[in-house]
Amino acid sequence: MAEAHTLAVIGAGNMGGAFVRRVVRVGAVAAAQIVIADADSARAKALADETGVRLAKDNAEAATAAEYILVVVKPGVVPSVLKDIASVLRAEQTVVSFAAGVTLGKMRGALGELAPALVRVMPNTPALVGEGISAVAAPGVARERVTKLVGVLEAAGQVVEVEEKLMDAVTGLSGSGPAFVFVLIEALADGGVAAGLPRPIAHQLAVQTVAGAAKLVQETGQHPGALKDAVASPGGTTIAGLAELERGGFRGLVATAVRASAARARELSREE
Ligand SMILES: NC(=O)c1ccc[n+]([C@@H]2O[C@H](COP(=O)([O-])OP(=O)(O)OC[C@H]3O[C@@H](n4cnc5c(N)ncnc54)[C@H](OP(=O)(O)O)[C@@H]3O)[C@@H](O)[C@H]2O)c1
Repeated sequence: MAEAHTLAVIGAGNMGGAFVRRVVRVGAVAAAQIVIADADSARAKALADETGVRLAKDNAEAATAAEYILVVVKPGVVPSVLKDIASVLRAEQTVVSFAAGVTLGKMRGALGELAPALVRVMPNTPALVGEGISAVAAPGVARERVTKLVGVLEAAGQVVEVEEKLMDAVTGLSGSGPAFVFVLIEALADGGVAAGLPRPIAHQLAVQTVAGAAKLVQETGQHPGALKDAVASPGGTTIAGLAELERGGFRGLVATAVRASAARARELSREE
């Protein structure tokens, strides 16, 4: 009989590895209560040595007695991982997929009639520094199971619950959004350099401006439009810059980028 664990993490790559490190570091789940499995055994061993989590010999062993089984492999690999673990799963377990575009229906199809509770999670990369946001879709899953899972996911940042049909929109906004913000940071720094600043100072100013502006919205709870109005004085410097953003269609462009990313996520979930 396999030893019982709270979490099995199958796929200890960028996202799975970062998640395990955060969960252990903040003490959301004790290292002894986590078991990992990964096709790349050297990578998994290094993570186990670093964090103190247990290393299973294969996916089925990791899944056998875990309360929550997190599947954190690339979307195309999810069906084969589900096949590996299908025969050891029991109804009281919960399988949680982090993979973009793999629907609960597809997971249920791969696991068959005896499927345990199934949950989809869409995290984002700021999870690496504990500032992520994850969306969770868990239709029909008992509330106490979802609540306990949300508590674990909060090790990586905030958590929101959404209907599964909104997961592609989440992918477009918070999944892809960090990349859009990285481009904004780069563009702000480039503008600063063009205006005469040395690159390292321009970079530091750009990064902290974006982080600080986000924190101001978060902590004051004010509408971003109101905060924007408050810094745009008549005939001033900020309104001159804002006029250029409007001329270039900045808002429409950003909103269209989110919609394009959501549409691509929808396409991918149909292709798989
Ligand atoms: N990274 C992100 O920013 C991000 C954000 C949101 C969602 N996600 C989701 O998270 C999932 C993982 O992404 P990632 O960036 O962490 O990928 P990754 O770095 O490639 O990690 C996946 C790990 O799983 C291993 N693996 C492959 N096949 C396996 C199998 N059959 N059984 C067990 N382990 C297996 C891989 O080993 P090999 O390298 O040897 O194949 C690799 O170590 C994806 O589905 C993605 O959609 C990621």
